[in-house]
Amino acid sequence: MVRFISFIVLFLLCVASSSPTKVVDVETICKKAKNYSFCITLLKSKAGGAGGDLVSLASYTIGVARTDVSKTINLIKTLIAKSGGNPKALSHYKNCLDHFGMNEGALGEIVEAQQLLKKGDYGGVNAHASGILTDVDGCLSGDSPTDPPFHDTSSLPKYAAIVEQVSQIILIITNFLLH
Ligand SMILES: *[C@@H]1O[C@H](CO)[C@@H](O)[C@H](O)[C@H]1NC(C)=O
Repeated sequence: MVRFISFIVLFLLCVASSSPTKVVDVETICKKAKNYSFCITLLKSKAGGAGGDLVSLASYTIGVARTDVSKTINLIKTLIAKSGGNPKALSHYKNCLDHFGMNEGALGEIVEAQQLLKKGDYGGVNAHASGILTDVDGCLSGDSPTDPPFHDTSSLPKYAAIVEQVSQIILIITNFLLH
């Protein structure tokens, strides 16, 4: 009996140490965000409530980023289809499609981030989240520093700003996981 109990205790100790769940409340996370209310609304929209460990919040937020990036890609495709007669607009939107796409763009960063999160590589997730910010900036301001940025009157800058904010929240959450 004593052996059985000590086996149970040992088992529980192993479970506790192999899954160190880190919990930080959403208010603390969102105090570091650019827009507190945007962040609170986002994290509280998580099914099952905002309570939860950092890994599940990170996983949820990366999922939101993936949806937002996919929506942005669809918008860019529509804009490309509409800008046939406008070479400057066309080249701007094509550049944006590269920066948001799967191939070395934001969507590719997100797919990698999802895989790295599962492996517990929070530094890698952090690096890919900051890659998304670089991609968004590359779309909005263009690749050539000498050209003036394209004056975009479509909804794309608004969509891009949302992707930016969500990615910053991924950065904040992974920083808590790393420290
Ligand atoms: C912050 O986000 C909210 C949406 O949650 C938005 O209504 C508001 O305009 C944003 N504020 C700023 C300063 O961007």
